[in-house]
Amino acid sequence: MQSLPEMPSHQALIGGAWIATRATLDVEAPSHGETISRIARCQAEEIDQAVEAARRAFSGRLGDWSRWTARRRSEWLLGFAAAIEADHERLSALECVDTGKPMTQARGDIASCARYFRFYGGAADKLHGETIPFENDFSVMTLREPFGVCAQIIPWNYPAQIFGRCVAAALAAGNTLVLKPAEDACLSVLRLAELAVENGLPEGVLNVVPGLGREAGAALAAHPHIDHLSFTGSPETGTLVAQAAAVHHVPITMELGGKSPQVVFADADMETASEAVVRGIIQNAGQTCSAGSRLLVQREAADRLLGRLVERFAALRCDAGEADADCGPLINARQKAKLEARLEAARADGIQTLAQGRLADGVPQGGHFVVPSILSEIPAGHEVLREELFGPVLAVQVFDDEAEALALANATDFGLCAGIWTRDGGRQLRLAKGIRSGQVFVNNYGAAGGIELPFGGVGRSGHGREKGFEGLRSYTRIKTVAIRHG
Ligand code: NAI
Ligand code: MG
Repeated sequence: MQSLPEMPSHQALIGGAWIATRATLDVEAPSHGETISRIARCQAEEIDQAVEAARRAFSGRLGDWSRWTARRRSEWLLGFAAAIEADHERLSALECVDTGKPMTQARGDIASCARYFRFYGGAADKLHGETIPFENDFSVMTLREPFGVCAQIIPWNYPAQIFGRCVAAALAAGNTLVLKPAEDACLSVLRLAELAVENGLPEGVLNVVPGLGREAGAALAAHPHIDHLSFTGSPETGTLVAQAAAVHHVPITMELGGKSPQVVFADADMETASEAVVRGIIQNAGQTCSAGSRLLVQREAADRLLGRLVERFAALRCDAGEADADCGPLINARQKAKLEARLEAARADGIQTLAQGRLADGVPQGGHFVVPSILSEIPAGHEVLREELFGPVLAVQVFDDEAEALALANATDFGLCAGIWTRDGGRQLRLAKGIRSGQVFVNNYGAAGGIELPFGGVGRSGHGREKGFEGLRSYTRIKTVAIRHG
């Protein structure tokens, strides 16, 4: 294994201090299977302390966070973006070794994280309420207020990007935070927390409590003193978290993944479409909520498109994150075993593997690699069409006309993203309106991460919106003030 980046504090950040926990968790490098560090294992006790620290920071004495003007928050966020950019190399190396993702993708993730702080830094002092015409003897206005203490439970697939998305927006709106990163990858988050402290974020405004989902995560979701909760992860865990938050009527945002279709018509630019289809499923080894995991192709173009894809997939190589190949490993042995079992079952059901990538020569032995593959001849309603496999697996279906394309695109309980590839303007609009999902991309997929673009799901993909200005509004609530002045 190549030399490791300097590790950040492995402790929990609570009330501005780094706190050791009795027990710790090992940090594994998924490209190698080796233990490279350890992190705190917070329990209910630390979660209590973190929530109370966030409360004090929110509604404490003069000079505390809630008294910071929007302009001051804006300036802090912009300064923090610059600090992330200055630490880019170390943060990228941490993200790469901790998640196993190829170095180029890790670098892109850190750049996106900084951009979130720039975007929300720029937006913080442009968020305001309204005045409402009412009776002549009244003046009515709305105040857009922060919730108070926001709890954030985030996953391991994009730790730094999701930190940026959630933390920048919540802070810009004036909230304080308790963030529970994922036990499988949180080194970049811990480094970002160190940078926030170094950059003078007041104590208690951001608290970071690493630990297990069933311990730290469950205690945070059930905490009676949080004012808002945002969760990104699996639909099953999302249900548990939402149930816990409902006990105290805590408002929630749920981002729960997808089974997003790429719909390619015969008149599409096949070269651009095929490249986007490949990237949309192999990025982060398919462990992406917005992965384009279903390919729907019009029958008359199927041979042309699949011919290209077979060639591209056969050339894909899996290797350790540092080697910066097409595809890294899955996050852990459990995710690899789960995916392999599903692929095995699919083959037993007669599903064909059209093409597969390969392991690079000299790939580390202990890594959790699964080579990219394309599946076809899939019976309607099969698991590989319904479930988020969270791996580099593209499931292909063929359609004849627009009506069938729309029906297949919508034949899912999820609804996060969709790609439509056609030159026909009317069809672009009909499908954009007809597809049941939070985002639709026409002749592109993902809009390069789209920090400025509202993002979120329908159905089993969750609810609420992050990213863009909409994401900022969703970390606020409206208070109506009606003044009768005679
Ligand atoms: P998960 O949904 O269990 O984990 C996400 C976060 O929730 C982590 O921080 C975890 O510690 C926390 N968590 C787990 N159990 C909790 C509980 N009872 N209460 C509160 N918080 C809890 O996802 P996991 O197990 O890591 O991955 C399993 C599957 O979830 C994947 O195969 C994938 O399908 C999906 N997933 C989707 C993601 C997305 O971006 N949409 C991200 C991660 C996982
Ligand atoms: Mg790890």
